[in-house]
Amino acid sequence: MTQNFNIIWLVILLSPNLRICHAGKDVDKEPPRECKLEGLHPLLIMTYKNVTISVSKKADKITIPHGERVTVRCRELGRYKLVGDPLLVCRNGGWNGKSPSCIPTTSISNYSDNVPPTILFGLPRGSAAIEPSGALAVFPGSILHLECLFARRMGNPEWTWNSTFRQYLTGWAIAPSEKDWKYRLSIYYVKNQDSGVYTCSTPKGLSNSIRIHVVDTHCPTLIPTPAPLSSKIQGARMGQRAEFECPNGYKLVGSKVLNCQYNGRWSSEVPRCELILCPEIVLPNAKLQMLEHNNSVSGNAVFTCLWGNLLLGSQTISCGEDGTWNATVPVCSQIKCPLPPVPKNGIILETERSPPVAQKRFTKANKARKVGSLLRFACLPGHQLIGEGSIICTENGTWSHEPPLCEVRCPYPGDPPHGKIAPLKFWYKPGDTIQVTCSLGYVTPLEPERKPTCRENGIWSGPPPPCTSYRDV
Ligand SMILES: *[C@@H]1O[C@H](CO)[C@@H](O)[C@H](O)[C@H]1NC(C)=O
Ligand SMILES: *[C@@H]1O[C@H](CO)[C@@H](O)[C@H](O)[C@H]1NC(C)=O
Ligand SMILES: *[C@@H]1O[C@H](CO)[C@@H](O)[C@H](O)[C@H]1NC(C)=O
Ligand SMILES: *[C@@H]1O[C@H](CO)[C@@H](O)[C@H](O)[C@H]1NC(C)=O
Ligand SMILES: *[C@@H]1O[C@H](CO)[C@@H](O)[C@H](O)[C@H]1NC(C)=O
Ligand SMILES: *[C@@H]1O[C@H](CO)[C@@H](O)[C@H](O)[C@H]1NC(C)=O
Repeated sequence: MTQNFNIIWLVILLSPNLRICHAGKDVDKEPPRECKLEGLHPLLIMTYKNVTISVSKKADKITIPHGERVTVRCRELGRYKLVGDPLLVCRNGGWNGKSPSCIPTTSISNYSDNVPPTILFGLPRGSAAIEPSGALAVFPGSILHLECLFARRMGNPEWTWNSTFRQYLTGWAIAPSEKDWKYRLSIYYVKNQDSGVYTCSTPKGLSNSIRIHVVDTHCPTLIPTPAPLSSKIQGARMGQRAEFECPNGYKLVGSKVLNCQYNGRWSSEVPRCELILCPEIVLPNAKLQMLEHNNSVSGNAVFTCLWGNLLLGSQTISCGEDGTWNATVPVCSQIKCPLPPVPKNGIILETERSPPVAQKRFTKANKARKVGSLLRFACLPGHQLIGEGSIICTENGTWSHEPPLCEVRCPYPGDPPHGKIAPLKFWYKPGDTIQVTCSLGYVTPLEPERKPTCRENGIWSGPPPPCTSYRDV
């Protein structure tokens, strides 16, 4: 009974959401605030829980919880000197300690002797990685050159170090291209005891340091990658790298290069190769058809149109390295023949269903006909059709023939009883005359004015003269 009572009290005391009053004093507080990266020097690189980010890039998105610590260093190790605290702790929305910042050194400031010297490093053999604190983690056995950059004409800088293990060779570099600005310290076959702080000081007493941390760190061995991914793996020692590549037609998803980091982890996951495919083509309608559809890189899509249609655009499009087609899908446009003018004194007889169309009844909507359409023509009475009576719309978008003409003609008037007219024709041109030849025993009056003439309006000047019997004359 007593035990249960005690447990309840303990729960109340530990529960952060409960309001507890001590002698009238309200101790209910807001939770401590997080810290933002805004306001930190933009050249800083910050590491929090093994994640390293550049302050300038993601400053507005990331916040650090109260009580957490972050390590900072400057970008471009050795080219900026960190002043202030390299370790920051978030205290209720603010950072403790002296705010860190990065000041430029000689290689940034045109070798002025009013700034600290730049310290660069080179590894003719071995490997190294940068730690979050800005220390250089060096793999044992490496050969390390530390280069203090200073204008030689302004005097000699000086290298000092705090390890007591051995002495190091220092002096101006030998190569003509380097001898006037690189003051070098070399560490051959680096050993654990070489760890320490190496400082270069200028005659004016300005200095910059680099911390060397000799450590035998390995990353997990990378197993040879399955095809199509190919790799060039230097090794799995800290500071070594692996490069990956995909063959043509694939894209690499992930990082192309992996670095074995100070903490024995690869900088990212092994990437993979993804087949590049162009988007599948969906045909917009039945008029457009595909003869070939290969949407892998360098593949082609080949199009054709149904009969009677014209392909507008590229007949062949090609899938590019970037996974896009090199041109848009073509379109099929129905081939049409523009309707010819209606012949003078004629009409157009539509095919099958439509009734005859008179000249003025053509509207915009029926000004063209599709391939294969047939147009038939007819002439008004008293007119002869000259040309083709029907024409067809061809695949060229043109009619098979010119439209016909309707010319004024007099029709064959018919033979008179007991006679024949000459010349005998279906049609007579204006100005043509006809004669009548009567059968044996019949005659026609021989008056010239009674010889019928075809007039300009397609009407005979008179009927054919009659043949009368001798007996009646
Ligand atoms: C950071 O990396 C070190 C070394 O691999 C590891 O021991 C440690 O647990 C990691 N810390 C976090 C927060 O992941
Ligand atoms: C760098 O310094 C040299 C000599 O001090 C001077 O001649 C040159 O103009 C400077 N260059 C720049 C970019 O300031
Ligand atoms: C050198 O200095 C660094 C930083 O002050 C210190 O951590 C390290 O122990 C020193 N090394 C030696 C050998 O004194
Ligand atoms: C598609 O095109 C690619 C590149 O030209 C070729 O290697 C592949 O064999 C083609 N695929 C098919 C199914 O034809
Ligand atoms: C697209 O590729 C095809 C096949 O290689 C080529 O014939 C065509 O000219 C290309 N079109 C364009 C717009 O580049
Ligand atoms: C289309 O036009 C071409 C050239 O003008 C001609 O040679 C061909 O015979 C035409 N085709 C048809 C179906 O009229």
